[in-house]
Amino acid sequence: MTVELILTNAKLVLEHEVRVGTLICRGDTITEISSSSSSVPGAIDCGGNFIAPGLVELHTDNLERHLEPRPAVKWPKREAVLAHDAELAACGITTVFDAMRVGSIPSSDHSDTDNYARELADVLLKLKAQDQLKISHFIHLRAEICSETLEQELNKFTKEDCVQIISVMDHTPCARQFANLSQFRTYATRKGGLTDEEFDQHVAQLKAISARYSVRHERAACEAAARLGSVLASHDDTEIAHVETSAQRGMTFAEFPTTMIAAEACRDYNIAIMMGAPNLIRGESHSGNVSAAELARKDLLDIVSSDYVPAALFQSALVLGTLWDDLPRAIKTVTLAPARAAGLMDRGSLAVGQRADLIQFRLDQNRGIVDRVWSQGQSIF
Ligand SMILES: [Fe+2]
Repeated sequence: MTVELILTNAKLVLEHEVRVGTLICRGDTITEISSSSSSVPGAIDCGGNFIAPGLVELHTDNLERHLEPRPAVKWPKREAVLAHDAELAACGITTVFDAMRVGSIPSSDHSDTDNYARELADVLLKLKAQDQLKISHFIHLRAEICSETLEQELNKFTKEDCVQIISVMDHTPCARQFANLSQFRTYATRKGGLTDEEFDQHVAQLKAISARYSVRHERAACEAAARLGSVLASHDDTEIAHVETSAQRGMTFAEFPTTMIAAEACRDYNIAIMMGAPNLIRGESHSGNVSAAELARKDLLDIVSSDYVPAALFQSALVLGTLWDDLPRAIKTVTLAPARAAGLMDRGSLAVGQRADLIQFRLDQNRGIVDRVWSQGQSIF
C-alpha cells in the first residue's frame, strides 16, 4: 500500500498565496491540497505553522568546506559528502547542485590535482546509487576558464553522470569578481596565505594562463554543456558585454552579477538573476559587489543561492519576504525559480503532481525555524 503523508492545520505557502489547509501526499508525490483543516485520522497537525516546498540550491561551496575542514587538511570524500548531505537536510534544502570545480593549475604550488571533480563525482554518484543520501543531489561543474586543465577535466564526464549545470567562471585578476585587484589581494592573502611577493607572482601567472587559454576554454565549456545536456550559467557578470555573451551562448541564469548594470542587462535578455544569501543576510557583498537587497528592491533578483552558508538560504527568503511584503514570492526565489532555471519541472511548488519535498517552519520574532523536512514524502529531519 502506498504510504500517505497528511499535513493538516498548516499555512500552505502556495505559488501566489498562503492558504490554511491540508496537504496530502501519496508515495513521493503531492496528490491533494484542500482548504479544509478538519482532523483526519493519521494526519500530522502542523499547529498553524507553515508548510513550504523543500528548498532548491543551485550553487554551494559547502561540500568543499567538508572536504577541507582546515586549510590543507583533506577529509575522506565519502564522509564529507554524507556530512554535507545531512547538514543541508537540516537547513530545509531538499535538492542541491553540488558545485565542483573543473579546471586547475598543476604548474602552481597552490592548486589541487586535476582529477578532483571526477573523483568527487564518483563518490557522490555511488552514494546516490546506494540510496544513502537524504536529499536529491545533482552535479554542477564550475568550469574555470583561467586554468590549465579544463578541457581534459570536462572530457572525463559523460551523459551518464547527469551533469545538470555547467557554470562558466573566469577568476582572472582584474576581471569580473576580481575587477578590483585590492579585493583579490585580500582574498588571496587571507584564504591562500600568500605573502605580497607571492601574490604578485600569482597574479602574473594567472594573467598569462588566461591569455593563453581563456578563449579555448570558454568554447570547451559551452561544447561540454551541449554534449552533456547541461544548463549553462554565467558567473560574476560585471559588464553589459558579459551578459550579451551569455545571451549568445544560451545561458539561462546568471550567478552573482557584480554590478547593477549587469543585473539590468540580464533582465533585458531574460536571463534569471541569482544572488547570494549571505549578501542578503549581511546587507552587503563580502567582496564589495552590488548589494543583493538593492537588486531585490529594483525587482532584479529571481533566485537566491546559499553560496557558502547553507543555513542562510531559508533565512534569506524571509528577509526577502519582509522586503517585498510577499512571502510566497520570496519563497519562490529558493524553490520554484531555481528548480525551473536548472531545468527541473517536477519540484519547487506545492501543487498536485509535484514531488513531496516539503519543509515545516515557524516564525519566532521574524526569525524562521525549520522544524521538519520531508524528501519524496519521507521524513529526513
Ligand atoms: Fe566568483
